[in-house]
Amino acid sequence: MQALNTQALIAVIGAGAMGVGIAQVAAQAGHQVRLFDMRDGAAGEAIANIDRQLGKRVANGKLDAQDRADIVARLRPADSIEALADSHLVIEAIVENLEVKRGLFTQLETLCSADCILASNTSSLSITALAAGMQHPQRVVGMHFFNPAPVMALVEVVSGLATAPGIAQCVHSTAAAWGKKPVHTRSTPGFIVNRVARPFYAESLRALQEGAASSATLDALMREAGAFRMGAFELTDLIGHDVNYAVTCSVFNAYYNDMRFQPSLVQKELVDAGHLGRKSGQGFYSYAADAAKPAADELSAASQVESCVLEGSLGAAQGLIERIKAAGVKVIERDGSGVLRVGDAVVALSDGRMACQRSLQDGHRNLVLLDLAKDYSKATRIGLACAQNTSREALDQVVSLLARCSIKSSLLADIPGLAVMRTVAMLANEAADAALHNVGTPTDIDLAMCAGVNYPMGPLAWADEIGLPAVLQTLDNLQRAYGEERYRPSLLLRRKVAEGSRFHD
Ligand code: NAI
Repeated sequence: MQALNTQALIAVIGAGAMGVGIAQVAAQAGHQVRLFDMRDGAAGEAIANIDRQLGKRVANGKLDAQDRADIVARLRPADSIEALADSHLVIEAIVENLEVKRGLFTQLETLCSADCILASNTSSLSITALAAGMQHPQRVVGMHFFNPAPVMALVEVVSGLATAPGIAQCVHSTAAAWGKKPVHTRSTPGFIVNRVARPFYAESLRALQEGAASSATLDALMREAGAFRMGAFELTDLIGHDVNYAVTCSVFNAYYNDMRFQPSLVQKELVDAGHLGRKSGQGFYSYAADAAKPAADELSAASQVESCVLEGSLGAAQGLIERIKAAGVKVIERDGSGVLRVGDAVVALSDGRMACQRSLQDGHRNLVLLDLAKDYSKATRIGLACAQNTSREALDQVVSLLARCSIKSSLLADIPGLAVMRTVAMLANEAADAALHNVGTPTDIDLAMCAGVNYPMGPLAWADEIGLPAVLQTLDNLQRAYGEERYRPSLLLRRKVAEGSRFHD
């Protein structure tokens, strides 16, 4: 079904952070928009605020003055819900409460024509439950924007059990016509983004809990090796620990306490203490006026490395070899099991085993494990882990080699899968399970994670790039090391490996 044309009248209910942003997006796309809020005067104030924000864009030369006037002229406050009766699409962004939202939709059903689409911006409630008992449940759909709606590209178009495919398609096409990147998803807990993103927070929280490194070091690894915009601690400080912890608890409960989504006691402590992040002035970091952000730990290099020996391929870390060569270090290449010998050190990419296990099982002395980097030709920091018998001198050889390539080394405690590798493997695993359960197509899942939470690459495409056998092996080893359900590999990942296929061909 095609997008609604710009003649279609759009109603937005709830003039809070989300409703106002959505109203602005629809008006910018050329629709007449009616904004209603139960609080008197809220809609009018919100429109005046949009006008002021657009005024700043005009002043910066980013928007034409006439366009600003036209956009604002298309936005009108509605003084009653009855004033929305002739709408073609109603998007509600009111309080996150199932009974209140159902009451609103029931009222709208009697007011609006039978072909008016009723959309909810809910981020956690079931669209199926919202539509239950309505006369025309087929026209109820989720239209989940991300905050701030005028900036964030993603819209999750959520189909409940009764949603007509044509309605979901119309909303999808309409969101695309509004300049957004829509994806289709089913009404399941967390939809795509709030489900697939859970391991991003959970794995860093666990690494911190296990004393693997400081929060500043783990954040730096996520940014400088993983190419994420922010690490988990700075991001949750920004989101607010109350909000982030509540989302995790809601997804965990909704999946019947599946241990994969288990909330973290480290985060609960912050919530209990009222350390909610930036908004309270204290989270993992202090936001006091005089507080300096703690620096990430890094090792200093003391040796001179002129050559190394590559035996086989380093797998997903092979890009590092080009960088080593470009730094003027001689690389002697021969067949082997995928290790790099630097002086006495044996270097390998993490496969999810602890260095101590791997050193014993593979018979390597002086083993140094490398963490994953999104792109070894650009990474400015890499995580390392050592076995207990790795000598300080051997580690220094590796640190010196990386320093020669302008890469900082951060030493982690010997945890399985280090920091970036375990996070990316778990993101891919969750994305694979979401694809297996038809929550979205692999393409839509990857798009959602890039457009909704700015990941540098979709988790499934990233897993393809690492190599699915390596991702599966990492998860199998994590599961063995911890003996926990949490790391169980998705059936779809296992099937893809057995088939020799990929998520994206
Ligand atoms: P908010 O609290 O900023 O705004 C809600 C507005 O709705 C308030 O102005 C309130 O007066 C009004 N309202 C409440 N009940 C009403 C009713 N029965 N009729 C008319 N107006 C009513 O909330 P926010 O953050 O804008 O969230 C709104 C919805 O969007 C929720 O469902 C939330 O889960 C969802 N959402 C929020 C995101 C966020 O980052 N804040 C992101 C994506 C979705």
